[in-house]
Amino acid sequence: MHLTFALFAITALLKGSSAYPSNSDWVTEHVKRYDGFSDNLAVRLGSYQAPGPNDSRGPCPGLNTLANHGLINRDGKNLNSTEIKLAFPRGFGIAEDAIEVALHNWEVVCEYIKGTTCGTAANDGTFILTNLTILGEPHAFEHDHSYSRQDYRQNWAHGGITDNIYFNSSEMQTGLDVVGYTTSNPPKVAAANYQQFNDIRLQRESIQNQRDFPGWFQQNVPPTLFETGFIFGATFDRDSSGKMKESTPMARLKWWNFWFSEESFPTQLGWVPASTEVFNSHFCTSVSSAVLNAAVTSLPKSLPAGATATTFPPPANLPEGDPSPTLALFQSAPYAAATSPAAIKSAAAKRGLLAARENQASTLTLPASVSSIVASEVTAKPSLILAAIQLAGAAPPKFNLYQQSIDTVTLKAQIAAAQSYQDLVIAKITSLASVRGRV
Ligand code: HEM
Ligand SMILES: *[C@@H]1O[C@H](CO)[C@@H](O)[C@H](O)[C@H]1NC(C)=O
Ligand SMILES: *[C@@H]1O[C@H](CO)[C@@H](O)[C@H](O)[C@H]1NC(C)=O
Ligand SMILES: *[C@@H]1O[C@H](CO)[C@@H](O)[C@H](O)[C@H]1NC(C)=O
Ligand SMILES: *[C@@H]1O[C@H](CO)[C@@H](O)[C@H](O)[C@H]1NC(C)=O
Repeated sequence: MHLTFALFAITALLKGSSAYPSNSDWVTEHVKRYDGFSDNLAVRLGSYQAPGPNDSRGPCPGLNTLANHGLINRDGKNLNSTEIKLAFPRGFGIAEDAIEVALHNWEVVCEYIKGTTCGTAANDGTFILTNLTILGEPHAFEHDHSYSRQDYRQNWAHGGITDNIYFNSSEMQTGLDVVGYTTSNPPKVAAANYQQFNDIRLQRESIQNQRDFPGWFQQNVPPTLFETGFIFGATFDRDSSGKMKESTPMARLKWWNFWFSEESFPTQLGWVPASTEVFNSHFCTSVSSAVLNAAVTSLPKSLPAGATATTFPPPANLPEGDPSPTLALFQSAPYAAATSPAAIKSAAAKRGLLAARENQASTLTLPASVSSIVASEVTAKPSLILAAIQLAGAAPPKFNLYQQSIDTVTLKAQIAAAQSYQDLVIAKITSLASVRGRV
């Protein structure tokens, strides 16, 4: 991998919190560097244009917003890392140091999927990232219990199709419900503090732990918490120059909801970009640890083990196979999950697509009795899944996760193939379970 930019070594654990804004020399220099952005927000933030059917979007509300405003390529493809490092401070007021690890990890995923370097021949320290959609590669950088996306294995035993990439308003609302937020005007609750965000985070873990196929949920707290830092940084209450009004940040819920659902800057709700002096890596890790350490009033049921631990290592760089691309990184070929780009269609097209998808899914759903028998077997003995998969043999080619459009015939054929493989796995699980049960 041809990485020459300095990787930020964040050594502190997400533990204890310290005051911010931080006034290091580094921050002061960087604030100067970004002083050049126009005060005119229409100039600074570009103009929103909805993505078209051939544009690439992914699981990151931050990057999707930059693309929708033309601060990075509107088609979401061939993105220059140097330009991303400039576009984030310009759009969100986030300082560059807060995105170094994410950018590194994206490059690793990019090389994994492309099977070749995403760096440049000139090795000038910049690299070209294929597109935003590849960020949805499951459990590489993408993770379970997102605030606004489904988990990719969530529907595995219930029809197979899970969209783990695009915004899903019901997923988002389950988090908003925790703090009693509705979009009614004026909203019941205006902002969420650390404790409320810890409540939301735990509720998401609990719900997704129950929705995922038993035993397959993977808890991934460090990136979730860093993303929580992004949410606080993007939505704390601010003056017109982006400085924090409160002494402790709170997430303004209507800004958060607008940003995620529209994938646009909430300027019409009085929002301005944060000051880079405030919104930097230190801010994000401080918020992460404060949220993690905020005592919650009651615990949701079915939490995965370790959900309430108060220290986690911060998100770290994915390992690289320097100097060759990181093909073997995740121990298997890139996974092409079952999904389709509902979120980037017009509302009407989206409804049509969903209806079609739900039809396909419903004709393939397993009888509930079978699902629940298998589910309880697997809950009791999660290792059965691995044993069953070994017996069932190689999985068929899966849906192509990275394509924006796929025709119905191909999709149907792929679902059918995946479904019969799934049936085979489930049959193996059932027979293994009954054999073991008799022993
Ligand atoms: C180059 C830098 C970045 C990369 C490669 C990146 C990539 C990603 C990826 C892969 C996810 C999906 C994780 C999941 O499964 O939920 C994600 C989520 C997220 N990103 Fe980014 N991101 C970057 C920078 C940012 C920045 C600067 C912001 C804020 C301004 C941001 C805001 C978020 C938020 C809030 C989520 C969580 C979404 C949810 O839980 O539903 N990201 N990002
Ligand atoms: C998208 O790509 C397809 C296939 O290349 C093409 O037929 C179609 O016109 C494109 N649509 C737009 C809006 O560019
Ligand atoms: C994104 O890149 C992947 C990997 O090269 C490719 O398979 C996919 O078609 C691309 N998707 C879009 C929407 O550009
Ligand atoms: C990325 O953009 C920067 C700044 O515009 C430019 O100097 C650099 O050459 C670009 N890199 C590539 C590989 O195009
Ligand atoms: C959103 O997620 C819910 C589950 O929370 C699911 O039932 C629904 O089909 C998803 N919607 C889309 C558009 O994928």
